[in-house]
Amino acid sequence: MMKVGRNDPCPCGSGLKYKKCCLGRERFEIKDAAAAYAEKYRIRIKAKVDVEGIRQAGRLVLEALDLVESQIEPGMATDEINTIVHEYTVKNGGVPAPLNYRGFPKSVCVSVNEVVCHGIPGDRILNAGDIVNVDITTILDGYYADANKTFFVGTPGPDARKIVAVARESLRKGMSMANPGNTIGDIGWAIQTYAEEQGCSVVREFVGHGVGFEFHEPPQIPHFGQKGQGIRLIPGMVFTIEPMINLGQKGLRILDDNWTAVTLDGSLSAQFEQTILVTEEGCLSLTPYELA
Ligand code: MF3
Ligand code: CO
Ligand code: CO
Repeated sequence: MMKVGRNDPCPCGSGLKYKKCCLGRERFEIKDAAAAYAEKYRIRIKAKVDVEGIRQAGRLVLEALDLVESQIEPGMATDEINTIVHEYTVKNGGVPAPLNYRGFPKSVCVSVNEVVCHGIPGDRILNAGDIVNVDITTILDGYYADANKTFFVGTPGPDARKIVAVARESLRKGMSMANPGNTIGDIGWAIQTYAEEQGCSVVREFVGHGVGFEFHEPPQIPHFGQKGQGIRLIPGMVFTIEPMINLGQKGLRILDDNWTAVTLDGSLSAQFEQTILVTEEGCLSLTPYELA
């Protein structure tokens, strides 16, 4: 171990003098950890300017979700939701990330009832009593934000109410664990424990993910798991939590369109997603909406 002088190049690699950079323990640890996480896990820790960019993209996502919510009604085709999201996003200088992403043909995922996720907007008509998840990812000035909500169409029945309430609370439980010092496993553990206590099941095939510079970055964030397992969370990590919760069994299959995931048993599935920033104090949503 060698002592770094105040005027020596900073060991974090910034090119600045140590006294102008990481001198003072806290910042040193942060820069050091960012380099280590990039090297070990390919996780890209976000700087303040990046966080602000993602937050701006997130604002467009939330506004588009609100716009959809205000227009959802029985008799509407899911493709009309695509039109609303696409036009709103483009008009406000954004790019809908799903469009042409790995061949996805539309600008938003719209998943009705037994559809778990990745529903392709089309001719399907929304009926009173349906639940519909609208998953929006927007690119603004190069930054990605990703969020979704499950809406009621008309007046929900008891099963619809139940699965939407459990999915919403599952996201809240996951977010409550997204604090520095906790692990990725703590998030999945909290979600799985709660959802299964409620007699529901957690989808395994799709997980949350790092986001911001790209649509899907490391790390993966499973919505199931064990306390204390996995990567430790540090400030500057930005990722989604997006539990898909089924009223029946967890199994799913993919339809012939190669995208639409549906529950194997035909039971209802619901989901809520936000883009989360881990801070020094805890966590903050960059796509905040009420989960109460
Ligand atoms: N928005 C989804 C997610 O939460 C991903 C959709 S991929 C797409 O990660 F191609 F279907 F858009
Ligand atoms: Co996502
Ligand atoms: Co999403």
